[in-house]
Amino acid sequence: MTVLVVDFGAQYAQLIARRVREARVYSEIVQSTISADDVRAKRPSAIILSGGPKSVYEVPAPQLDPAIFELGIPVLGICYGAQLMALQLGGEVAHTGGGQYGRTELTRQGPSSLMEQWPQTQTCWMSHGDAIARAPEGFVVTASTPLAPVAVMEDAQRRLYAVQFHPEVAHSERGQELLENFLHHVAEIAPTWTNTSIIDDQVAAIRARVGDERVLCALSGGVDSAVAAALVTKAIGTQLTCVFVDTGLMRKNEGEQIEATFTRQFGVRLIHVKAQDRFFDALAGVTDPERKRKIIGELFIREFEGVARELAEGEESPRFLVQGTLYPDVIESGSGHAANIKSHHNVGGLPEDLSFELIEPLRSLFKDEVRHVGEELGLPAEIVWRQPFPGPGLGVRIIGEVTRERAEILRNADHVVVDEIKKAGLYRELWQSFAVLPAVRTVGVMGDGRTYAYPIVIRAVTSDDAMTADWARLPYDVIESIANRLIREVPGVNRVALDVTSKPPGTIEWE
Ligand code: XMP
Repeated sequence: MTVLVVDFGAQYAQLIARRVREARVYSEIVQSTISADDVRAKRPSAIILSGGPKSVYEVPAPQLDPAIFELGIPVLGICYGAQLMALQLGGEVAHTGGGQYGRTELTRQGPSSLMEQWPQTQTCWMSHGDAIARAPEGFVVTASTPLAPVAVMEDAQRRLYAVQFHPEVAHSERGQELLENFLHHVAEIAPTWTNTSIIDDQVAAIRARVGDERVLCALSGGVDSAVAAALVTKAIGTQLTCVFVDTGLMRKNEGEQIEATFTRQFGVRLIHVKAQDRFFDALAGVTDPERKRKIIGELFIREFEGVARELAEGEESPRFLVQGTLYPDVIESGSGHAANIKSHHNVGGLPEDLSFELIEPLRSLFKDEVRHVGEELGLPAEIVWRQPFPGPGLGVRIIGEVTRERAEILRNADHVVVDEIKKAGLYRELWQSFAVLPAVRTVGVMGDGRTYAYPIVIRAVTSDDAMTADWARLPYDVIESIANRLIREVPGVNRVALDVTSKPPGTIEWE
């Protein structure tokens, strides 16, 4: 039971796909160039046409194979998708002058399968320049707004539906209900896509593929690799070997937590590579951010490769490698083929004689789904809800040369920042909150003595996708407790500053 979300080139398609999944129906994003034959081959239970940034009259504006409307599959057009449906089926679309943006009042015009229980008027969220001026034959207009005479139109016979507003955004008060009416009632799709069904499907698929072969997985300490490993463990248990390379640049207790979870809780064989010394040696005297990244990335691969080679030469040589690739990576790669493996954990660079077949159990999931699957698999909340952490770890948060001493100071400082943010109940709201250590020293006074020590910068941002970010307006009392604890509890720190730079112009990390 799949719903295809046809992408007309804006951010909306991903959001629609997630809303469909929140309605417990599996969804996949496809390009607008898809042919009716390809749609038929995918056997979707419904199709949703997304909004898009273009006008239907622009040349070239993305079109849709009109034969898709004749497949007998229920279709819901949203915004651009709605206008395209109107135009391609013989209706009219007109420029509305200024267009309509933001909250708009929608008025019903009679019975509707999409808006069954709705009151006469309803707030919805609009963002369009053009609007449908006349519905195609066979359609009934069921709602309008001051500037969009055909805000909703329905053809129950052909099961074709179109809405000018955006039901997928939170500002459309009953938007989710509209989507669910379309999915559950009009298209008659049962809401069966749940965390349990995701886990069961993946477990069965992994078992079938792996048989009694052996599997290898690199754990980074992050959410994705942990959930992927937990899923594979559930499927094939001790056939999995995990490798955790401790670079000395991890967050406080990260290694211990991974070890406790995977060894004690899941009974997995975990190879804990304690490579701290080698990383600090390689980083000695290096201050250039790009060189640091390169050194850390390459050394990581070499360490992982060492373990992989040893295993490959042993009797129980692993045939598969687990990757925590997520759905957004797959969509962005555009082709539906294996996404590029992320920079630092890129084991694609392994020599040919170490070629593994990839297992990517999360490649159809969004981040929030991964977290819920992780919870259901019994991973501790601390791992599942962890904020993102860069591959090169604390190495790119020490500005200047990375030394063992500075890494230790920063790790302790970071722990204090995160701990206070958690106590204030802000940890899940923030995209990231952490400490940065610029390797300069400043003068201070403590007790009777003069101090000469490092400053710590508090960096906290809100963001949806890390592409843009805003500095978080932390309450003063939270900032105060962080600052007090940093000075009191972290030797080597005598000053605290707050970073109030958004992205752009700044990046989230300092390097
Ligand atoms: P910036 O600093 O560019 O970071 O605003 C955007 C997001 O990416 C994370 N980040 C990384 N993640 N490997 C990763 O897996 C890396 O090398 C890396 N560098 C930055 C950063 O924490 C933020 O969430």
